[in-house]
Amino acid sequence: MTNEKRSSFTGKLGFVLAAAGSAVGLGNIWRFPYLAAKYGGGIFLLVYLVLAVTFGFALMTAEIAIGRKTGLSAIGAFKALNKRFAFVGWIAALIPAIILPYYSVIGGWVIKYLWAFLSGGGATAAGDEYFGSFISTGEPILWFMIFMGATALIVLAGVEKGIEKVSKFMMPVLVVLSIVIAIYSVTMPGAIDGVRYYLMPDFSKFSATTVLAAMGQLFYSMSLAMGIMITYGSYMKKEVNLESSVSQIEIFDTGIAFLAGLMIIPAVFTFSGGTPEALGKGPSLMFVTLPKVFETMTGGTAIGIAFFLLVLFAALTSSISLMETVVSIVCDKTSLSRKATCLIVFLFSVALGLISSLGYGPLANIKIIGMQFLDFFDFVSNSVLMPIVAFLTCIVVGYVIKPSAIIDEVKLSSPFKREKLFVVVIKYFAPICIVLILISSVLDVLGIFKI
Ligand code: TRP
Repeated sequence: MTNEKRSSFTGKLGFVLAAAGSAVGLGNIWRFPYLAAKYGGGIFLLVYLVLAVTFGFALMTAEIAIGRKTGLSAIGAFKALNKRFAFVGWIAALIPAIILPYYSVIGGWVIKYLWAFLSGGGATAAGDEYFGSFISTGEPILWFMIFMGATALIVLAGVEKGIEKVSKFMMPVLVVLSIVIAIYSVTMPGAIDGVRYYLMPDFSKFSATTVLAAMGQLFYSMSLAMGIMITYGSYMKKEVNLESSVSQIEIFDTGIAFLAGLMIIPAVFTFSGGTPEALGKGPSLMFVTLPKVFETMTGGTAIGIAFFLLVLFAALTSSISLMETVVSIVCDKTSLSRKATCLIVFLFSVALGLISSLGYGPLANIKIIGMQFLDFFDFVSNSVLMPIVAFLTCIVVGYVIKPSAIIDEVKLSSPFKREKLFVVVIKYFAPICIVLILISSVLDVLGIFKI
């Protein structure tokens, strides 16, 4: 046994499940399908898959290896690699703090739908105007506070161990239920056009924004470019096979996102004929289409209850680890107690979450660069900060510590099969693409330049 100061995962399965637990969440079930619907269906899926096996693979390998090599979480790890790049760890650490509040707003929507199905309102929830009128009021604040409060209480009580046990049981159930719903969804009348839209790439819909959206989604979904995987890596034992762990986490995460797309996108065609407005619904897509699917299923109410309950658990495990990340960073860097830190993080998240929540209703007239608050926070974290962190990680690994440092770390546990791919992606492909795409899409959003 090696002498480890840090506690570590017992073996490979424990590591993969823990990392996959962080990765699988609302990103897969709520965010992936609406982006795929909005950005051209098949072309988005294709770009996403290509990025997953290149960018995703290289970045996740680099992050886990950095964590395992240094035994530290993001801020300390970047500092240990090179003092001048310590700031990368700081930007990475900022990202979960931006995500947590709006993630909890969506978590609140999930509780609301669970409640609607539990109290026999499933049929009402399937109505066309239901979601729109729900978010235009102040009511989502109530649900957001319940979700945020539950997250804060669990983090404060530190019972995440129990949650982990539950989610190890819930996750497989979620997968099975998703397969059942997906099969039902693709066999509904009119769904075939949706299946085609989702699976057949239409290259005329390709643009820089597609790539940026897919890249942001990849980082978000796999919890990359925000220091999370570095922290997980720091708990990984030296003898656990790093490369195959990365593959398994990616397959698991992408598989669930793919299934979620199959549940939701064909349903958009069945119920709304796949019009651009219906496909472009954005964050509300899952909430608008799924109740309609459940409504037409035999036993739909029970399935709706089960589904939203499972999604709620997936969301809670993710929000707990998001908050835990923020709390542990503030705790480490200040002399505040854990309790006080939890309270501060909670209040900060409530403030940002409140404006995100109200941004769809009473504050709908206030827009930042044409976006509502929730979309703006999502854009800043996923499409601006994460690509920047990913770019800087590539630079540090590719040119400062050199890829060999990571390769040696990977080889401690097994041969590195995709070593060449890793080097090419980290040194050239990823940094060049990120810069081009980041610039063009920021210009696009600002309306300066359109591709
Ligand atoms: N990957 C998670 C999802 O798909 C969301 C997420 C982003 C996350 N960053 C995280 C979860 C950090 C836990 C920790 O929903």
